[in-house]
Amino acid sequence: MSPSRENAATGPLDDASLDQLIESLDSDRNALLDDLLEWLRIPSVSSDSRRQGEVRQACDWVSRKLEQAGLSVETIATEGHPMVVAQTAPIEGAPVVLVYGHYDVQPAEPLEDWVSGPFEPTVRDGDLFARGATDDKGQVLTHIQSVCRWLSAGHPLPLQIKFLIEGEEEVGSENLERMLPDLAEKLACDCVVISDSSQYADGQPAITYGLRGIATYELSVDGPSQDLHSGSFGGAVMNPAIALCKMLASMVDENGVIQIPGYYDRVQPLTDQERRQWRELPQSDEAFAANVGVQELFGEQGYTTDERRWARPTFDINGLTSGHQGEGVKTIIPAKASAKISFRLVADQDPRELTQQLNEHFSANAPPGVRWKLVSDHGAPGMLANIDTPFAKAAERAIDAAFGAKPVFIREGGSIPIVTRFQEVLGCDCLLLGWGLSDDNAHSPNEKFRVEDYHRGIQASARLWNEIAKQVE
Ligand code: BES
Ligand code: MN
Ligand code: MN
Repeated sequence: MSPSRENAATGPLDDASLDQLIESLDSDRNALLDDLLEWLRIPSVSSDSRRQGEVRQACDWVSRKLEQAGLSVETIATEGHPMVVAQTAPIEGAPVVLVYGHYDVQPAEPLEDWVSGPFEPTVRDGDLFARGATDDKGQVLTHIQSVCRWLSAGHPLPLQIKFLIEGEEEVGSENLERMLPDLAEKLACDCVVISDSSQYADGQPAITYGLRGIATYELSVDGPSQDLHSGSFGGAVMNPAIALCKMLASMVDENGVIQIPGYYDRVQPLTDQERRQWRELPQSDEAFAANVGVQELFGEQGYTTDERRWARPTFDINGLTSGHQGEGVKTIIPAKASAKISFRLVADQDPRELTQQLNEHFSANAPPGVRWKLVSDHGAPGMLANIDTPFAKAAERAIDAAFGAKPVFIREGGSIPIVTRFQEVLGCDCLLLGWGLSDDNAHSPNEKFRVEDYHRGIQASARLWNEIAKQVE
């Protein structure tokens, strides 16, 4: 037996004590859920400047929760919303894990599509509905609850756990990114654990080893100095809305292939092994299409749905504005038109290089008679994580025990802007453990988190700390 095991203060729990801890989590479900309801009632929409006070409240809520559990907690101001950094006591020779998550949420609009209010968390049929339920308050709280329970049960944790819960993930994490080098010492860790993604399917938990990156822009097109009568001027002046449509249409061909020269140059082809492995996952294009309410799927030719979502870069229009939006007809040539556009990138594509390629592409494809401007918002590269680590092995065992199924290894298509910076700046491993489901409606009306998955997540997390300690013993 190694010395660390003999030292009950720092070693992993024996099976009986761990079972007891899990049982106590089981018998305390209501209180664990009430905490989440309280946090979800605070509308911490980071992109909405009118919500600044509420964003701050959500920050204070989580810092208080961690403080009450006995962690040392500090709230760090940024140029935007603050972040919370907390930690348990360091343990000589034991691993250090950093749990990252975000307390900010996406806007809730369109409000009329919600069955119950986005900030009035409601349980229906085993699902908890609220903005932030799965993304990310519900998921990050699982780790906080598990640490609280270890400590309140009188068990010193067998490793050091730090928390970084920020309030700007949904707006690109730019302040955190800027500050990360200065925070590197404080946040130093062997592995960062993030629960801000999904299981592969109901009953099939997953460990995610890849995320796509992102680059977002606004493209605006200006024409005449004000809206014009389309009878008097139509045919003689370039219509900015038409110009914008042409520019956007030039981006992608009928096979779903993006037309920007150089766009695919750095894209790594999928390996045969990865393709084989993903094709073994239980999947159905019909069910996928039905779930989102379309007749058939569309994507880049030659790839499966999961390959398209996880390992191929994309172009999207996120919003489009021009001309008359009110009732009835208004025969005008609008003075201007604009589009919010975004790209999902895969590992090795560089958002800054894309900005340059995009400017060249639009220069070559903009019709005459209008002026256009491309403004870059935020960008983040795609991420790949090493899964051949003791942390991933520990997670496999913890998830298997809590969810009753071994996790599959997948990639996902969403982005967590700061993850690659953690890898670079902190030099740590990265473990993405998603407790959500792909139909949890993140960013959409009626966002939900299955109550059972919340509790399973807490139990998997409670087991994870023990399994990590066992792995590195
Ligand atoms: N939790 C998501 C990221 C995510 C989504 C991971 C789906 C795995 C699957 C995160 O909160 C998010 O929405 N990120 C934004 C980042 C953007 C605003 C910079 C995204 O992906 O759009
Ligand atoms: Mn998230
Ligand atoms: Mn999100």
